[in-house]
Amino acid sequence: MIITIDGPAASGKSTVARKLAAKLNADFLDTGAMYRAVTYAAIKAGVELTSPYQILETMNNTQFEFTSSVGGMRVQMDGVDITEEIRNPHITASARFIAGSSSARQRLVQMQRKFAEGHGRIVAEGRDQGTVAFPHADIKFYLTADLDERAKRRLGELEAKGAGQDIERVKEAIEKRDESDRKRSDGPLKAADDAITVDTTNLTIEQVVEKLLAFVKEKCSANQ
Ligand code: C5P
Repeated sequence: MIITIDGPAASGKSTVARKLAAKLNADFLDTGAMYRAVTYAAIKAGVELTSPYQILETMNNTQFEFTSSVGGMRVQMDGVDITEEIRNPHITASARFIAGSSSARQRLVQMQRKFAEGHGRIVAEGRDQGTVAFPHADIKFYLTADLDERAKRRLGELEAKGAGQDIERVKEAIEKRDESDRKRSDGPLKAADDAITVDTTNLTIEQVVEKLLAFVKEKCSANQ
């Protein structure tokens, strides 16, 4: 069983996907973490981020390991855990170079499909999961929320890490990321035609999880 959850930055996808996966006894595939890991590796290797060739070379020379765990997906690069490091704001802002490289995307989509093959049930979240990576997924969701609400949520996360910022700057960074995600020709951010769109602006994380769970149960009982 493959469930996809796509949506813009800070729409709550990761937390919801992780919790939904736990409820369904499924594995959680955080594809944003994959783009972040490649970004981290490329910066560490000192390569030109605008060069798709150098990015691909970095991917060829690096061993990545993505493991589903209760707390989320753990990421290892050449045997070293980089799960926390890839959340750094500099990595967040630079991931657009990797996201914009068609060859890197192709390789990452292959890795995502391989992950799905090795796991019986997955909840995959990202930008292109229902459209490109898993067009035949069993259930597809698209999560949205107002920009103000998303900025508030992201600010809360940053403050919890002791990295408080001006809300306007947070909003700007989110808008910039969404714009570049929507505009690229390969795997742009968009809802699949057959996705269920859920506006999470006025919902708590638990309410969103319950809502999605209800759709999954409905679909499962309809298929029996
Ligand atoms: O979801 P997260 O913020 O961790 O994603 C980091 C970046 O990776 C996004 O801004 C986006 O550009 C890119 N991404 C992508 N396709 C995905 C998941 C993430 O292009 N499926």
